[in-house]
Amino acid sequence: MNIHIVSTKRMPSVDVEIVGVFEDQKTPKGTDAAASAIIATRQLQEKFGKLYDLRLIPSTDRRVKKAFAVIGLGKAKTFNIAKARNVVASAVRGIAPIKPSTVSVSLKDVGGESMLEAVIDGVVFGVYEHHYKTEKKEQRITDVTIVTDARDAESRTNHARIIADAVSFVRKLVDEPANTMTPTRLADRAKELERFSGITTRIIGEKEAKAMGMGAFAAVSQGSDEEGKVIVVEYKGSAKKDKPVIGLVGKGITFDTGGLSLKSDKAMETMKCDMAGAATVLGIIAALAQKKAPVRVIGIAMAAENSPSGKAIRPGDVVMALSGKTVEILNTDAEGRLVVADGVTYADRLGATHIIDLATLTGACMVALGSEIVGLFSGDAPLAEKLMQASKKTGERVWQLPMDEDFDEEIKGTIADYKNVGEKYGGATTAAKFIQLVSATKKPWVHLDIAGPSFEEKGKPWMGKGGTGVMVRTLVQLTEEMSA
Ligand code: BES
Ligand code: ZN
Ligand code: ZN
Repeated sequence: MNIHIVSTKRMPSVDVEIVGVFEDQKTPKGTDAAASAIIATRQLQEKFGKLYDLRLIPSTDRRVKKAFAVIGLGKAKTFNIAKARNVVASAVRGIAPIKPSTVSVSLKDVGGESMLEAVIDGVVFGVYEHHYKTEKKEQRITDVTIVTDARDAESRTNHARIIADAVSFVRKLVDEPANTMTPTRLADRAKELERFSGITTRIIGEKEAKAMGMGAFAAVSQGSDEEGKVIVVEYKGSAKKDKPVIGLVGKGITFDTGGLSLKSDKAMETMKCDMAGAATVLGIIAALAQKKAPVRVIGIAMAAENSPSGKAIRPGDVVMALSGKTVEILNTDAEGRLVVADGVTYADRLGATHIIDLATLTGACMVALGSEIVGLFSGDAPLAEKLMQASKKTGERVWQLPMDEDFDEEIKGTIADYKNVGEKYGGATTAAKFIQLVSATKKPWVHLDIAGPSFEEKGKPWMGKGGTGVMVRTLVQLTEEMSA
């Protein structure tokens, strides 16, 4: 799909034009085609304008061949870039039935020039699809023209496109089923990133990882016939010597059956999503390399399948993590913290000065925050604060949860240093505590629990069921800010 930028003086000829209107916006007078479309919409539906409202108005204008897509923007006061992104994506999805190949989005009604990046993100997000359906493909949108008088529109578009494409890349990795997205396949996709200048990769096989001391990671992987892989992807931009080295660690469980502590059929249904953290790490690094960002990042994707078998770990087994700490594995379904803890220790050893891990770690985090907010846990207030600030700029929602010392007690083991589950309550925090204490890192570290927001289970106006690519935008933003 091509994205073009034109000024408001050169409105393009297209199949469909997307026009936005706020709930509390007066019906425009005027005679231009977009105004007429809004007038027509309000005649059909008086209070039109609620977020994600959509009406297709057949065009009588020669410039717009098929229709105007009038989309509700909600209240002007509460409009923000996250809503702009989603509203544009939902419009792009909503016009699919009339099969446009050329579309324009008129920016002036979508909140002005500060929204340019969000609009591009929304367009790319909206056209995304990934499936194995054998029915013939619908006609696709080939060209989107964004009408704007924003300054530096070309270069801003290029950067926004890189990030939007990285989000799509992550979504695709997550949407791929577990029979095709194995740890080996994920490693192959990571190796392909070497085509971008500045990226090098190293794949550590399961045996080698175990020999290096990654006993917690190897324990999770040992029950599966698929070989586990520790995927190290480094991007070295033209960063100065004294700048931070950001370690990004991703949980890459390509399928989580729960192991011998087997999940129920329902709970297992979406568990191909359990490698979303690892996919996100790859997406962030791909975006930074394409942007030629002057930063240094070490990405570590801990890829394994959690399966029950005669070789699988049993509840009660004791293993030694890379840090040297010993762990009783009481519940084999709490596998994420095991692989991530070894990943964090390894990032520390490879020289990361700051470490951020991303993991679809706990159902408890979804109970606490719902399915659209990322849980943040940290032992380092400044890094947490920087991340929260970056997330405000990208519109991705992040909420900090407690890490008080009293939670440490809950994961003290009986015959080993730690156990991999705590008490019934506060499960998102005990999981985070486990990563912190078992990895034994003393570097500034933040853990992001993306169990809910990384995967849409029901479908929304702006996306179908599947991976979301959440946190690519925020962590690209943060990494660039920290290295500036
Ligand atoms: N992968 C799951 C967490 C998850 C749940 C991700 C729902 C996405 C959606 C994780 O490995 C898990 O099973 N966690 C357990 C931990 C428990 C056994 C302490 C959970 O949250 O129930
Ligand atoms: Zn699990
Ligand atoms: Zn899991």
